[in-house]
Amino acid sequence: MITIENFLKKNSADQIEKNILMNLTGSQKKISSTFFYDEKGSKLFEKITSLPEYYLTRTEIPLIKQAADYLKESFRNVTIIEFGSGDPTKISLLLDSIPDEYRETISYVPFDVSDAAIQESCNLLLQDFPGLNIHGIIADFTTQLDVIPKKTNKIICFLGSTIGNFSKEQSKEFLSDIYEIMHPGDRLLLGFDMVKNKEIIEKAYNDSRKVTEQFNKNILNVVNTLVGTDFNPENFKHIAFYNEELSRIEMHLKAIKQMEISSSKYSSHIHINKDELIHTENSHKFTIEQIKKLVASADLEIERIFADEKNWFNLVLLTKS
Ligand code: SAH
Ligand code: TRP
Repeated sequence: MITIENFLKKNSADQIEKNILMNLTGSQKKISSTFFYDEKGSKLFEKITSLPEYYLTRTEIPLIKQAADYLKESFRNVTIIEFGSGDPTKISLLLDSIPDEYRETISYVPFDVSDAAIQESCNLLLQDFPGLNIHGIIADFTTQLDVIPKKTNKIICFLGSTIGNFSKEQSKEFLSDIYEIMHPGDRLLLGFDMVKNKEIIEKAYNDSRKVTEQFNKNILNVVNTLVGTDFNPENFKHIAFYNEELSRIEMHLKAIKQMEISSSKYSSHIHINKDELIHTENSHKFTIEQIKKLVASADLEIERIFADEKNWFNLVLLTKS
């Protein structure tokens, strides 16, 4: 059975749009990474995950299979919540290990800001796992964690190192908020991309087929649709580099010429200088010490760490006691 709830409030659209414009009119221009994921953006992201340079997905998948095997005895009467679920590839690996006779006792709650991703993944999953209870939630995980069903016996998943897209403060806050919705014995499965050779990391965000470039530029189309601006994405260059001091990939769009951008919906005017950067994303890379410090700050305990042999990715299973 599928139910889908949309909590993205239509009446807050005005606020969101004004916020987009405010972030584009200051001196340090930025666009929140939430706006990458319209239908086209979600599809481009799916393409990124199978690029040869994008090692993250390929490295995390065997770790999810190991975690699934480790957790399979706990899969009775459980609610599996997945934040930033996107497409159902990864969760299918967990669901695969559920014994058939338990299936009807399980609820799966995909939580994503993308309406299209939730609709599509619910439909695909019901075909592959008939009998599963699927409760899709369309909402923003940075502000709307309170819409999560207050069930006991939960396994919460946050995969793909999406936690690395938060700032350090945001990730602490997010984990503390998750701690609040967990009951003792509930678990949290968290994916972290690890610090490694700079060239390997930079290649993952500068692929030779230029899919990441298209993904980055598409955010301007999303902004155009939302606030009526007239950005031409082809007037920008995709920039992604590893900032060693902050151990993070930074993605920007760099203006190839001076531009005057106006909005058909609002009276704002955006002046952009040649070579000016619009910051679109950060993707932090972690050390085990940083992971331990971060989870301890939210009072969570490490039950197990699944890692590949090169230690490029860590999948960390946490509990609340
Ligand atoms: N879990 C998948 C997808 C990761 S991409 C994987 O590991 O490959 C990040 C996902 O988070 C996208 O599906 C995007 O739509 C979603 N997302 C981004 N910002 C969000 C927000 N603020 N609230 C909820 N979902 C968000
Ligand atoms: N969390 C993933 C990462 O940081 C997914 C992601 C978010 C991403 N934004 C991206 C991947 C931009 C490529 C480009 O890698």
